[in-house]
Amino acid sequence: MQTPPTELLDRLRHHQQHHVLYGWEQLDSSQRAELIQHLLKINLVELEELYRQVLKSKVTLPEDIEPVPISAPQFSTEEKARGEDALRQGEVAVLLVAGGQATRLKTPEPKGMFPVGAVSGATLYQIHAEKVLALSRRYRTPLLFLIMTSPATDAATRAYFEENNYFGLSREQVRFFQQGTMPAVSVQTGQLLLETPGKLLLSPNGHGGALTALAESGLLGELADRGVKHLFYFQVDNPLVKIADPGFLGRHIATGSEASSKVVAKTDPAEKVGVLVASRGRCSIIEYSLLPAELAEAREASGALRFRAGSPAIHVFRLDYLDRVTQIAADSLPYRPAFKEVEHFDPQRGEMVKPAGQPNAVKFERFIFDALPHAERWLVVETSRAEEFAPIKNATGPDSPETARAAMIALHAQWLAQAGIDTRGHPVEISPLLALDAEELTEKILTQTVPIETALSGPQMLR
Ligand code: UTP
Repeated sequence: MQTPPTELLDRLRHHQQHHVLYGWEQLDSSQRAELIQHLLKINLVELEELYRQVLKSKVTLPEDIEPVPISAPQFSTEEKARGEDALRQGEVAVLLVAGGQATRLKTPEPKGMFPVGAVSGATLYQIHAEKVLALSRRYRTPLLFLIMTSPATDAATRAYFEENNYFGLSREQVRFFQQGTMPAVSVQTGQLLLETPGKLLLSPNGHGGALTALAESGLLGELADRGVKHLFYFQVDNPLVKIADPGFLGRHIATGSEASSKVVAKTDPAEKVGVLVASRGRCSIIEYSLLPAELAEAREASGALRFRAGSPAIHVFRLDYLDRVTQIAADSLPYRPAFKEVEHFDPQRGEMVKPAGQPNAVKFERFIFDALPHAERWLVVETSRAEEFAPIKNATGPDSPETARAAMIALHAQWLAQAGIDTRGHPVEISPLLALDAEELTEKILTQTVPIETALSGPQMLR
């Protein structure tokens, strides 16, 4: 290709974006083709409008916000049985979103490859995959494990699963699919940024990109054909998540909910989690940075926060609801701006530019929870933070590998205490393949499938 298509050139000029063709003459034919292919996919009118909204810092909150009704964390025997039945019948699949760039954790590899096992050093991917394997064995059906990647994580993730023999899962059971990307623009000018000459700076389009990606990959249709009715959604950074929790699934099914969410009680108004709220009969999540202080700090007579339904990003969606949402709304889910410090190539200066201590780029992301208001029937269930939420976001401090490891050790020590075993403060880790919960562990210890001392004398990995 000697020159870019005229129509594209005109469009770039019209939107003052033709700087992206800097160094065209030096690009080889595949670089040229890739650049053109990416540029053709960008809706420059939409991008301009998104940038205009960023300049206006326009935030729209749902109307008439009220706290969501939260249902109790204990599941009945019937609820558990109903969820287990759905698992046995192959009516459930699980979706792990793992396309994020982990900018805060700052690891060169995808976050899923981060070693978090306190004793074994098992990675997040291994822990999640072994939970899926344990569930597949327990319910005697291969639970479909969908993993959404992005250009930032795809190749490394696939290679990692391949090298590790899919952690015992069958290849057919693990299905990778890639989310889309969005271009990043300059905070100052709204112009497209370049990673290097001839290469746009693109970033994954947010976990909300899962909706269109599921549909476009054909997976949504395939799930329906296989008789899957419910999709359990979770994020890669939470090693405690109870994947496909049968009680949660059972309540979701029994109440006819289209979109069910777990919540953890916020106790600190400043905690950085989104908050579920009700608005005119629908459920929404407001990002922590957008929740007005008077709402974040409002308290009930008991002293508890009024808006305390913190989101650990654990959901179950009915497949027909996902199908409806992807048809009517996936393309209209809002893009939310994220301000980042990004090194990029500046065509005006003809050199790479390092950020000078403040955000110089705006990235645009869709959030999965912006689909929640489309659910007519929905459900919110409280869960215990200690049992189910220890996210790894930062390299140190709160929500870091250190806090997640401590939470895993504490939970597993508590499971052992329930089974009459004293860890004496030694770090302990329980493989998902041994037990997925305290009951399973107790049963295995009582029936002596696991020989173990009643008091530990050192760190221990129980498999
Ligand atoms: P976060 O928004 O916390 O992003 O993602 P992150 O990549 O883990 O970390 P930062 O913000 O760059 O530091 C929450 C979950 O959503 C997934 C992530 O992989 C994680 O499981 N995600 C995020 C995607 O799958 N795609 C995206 O575009 C963004």
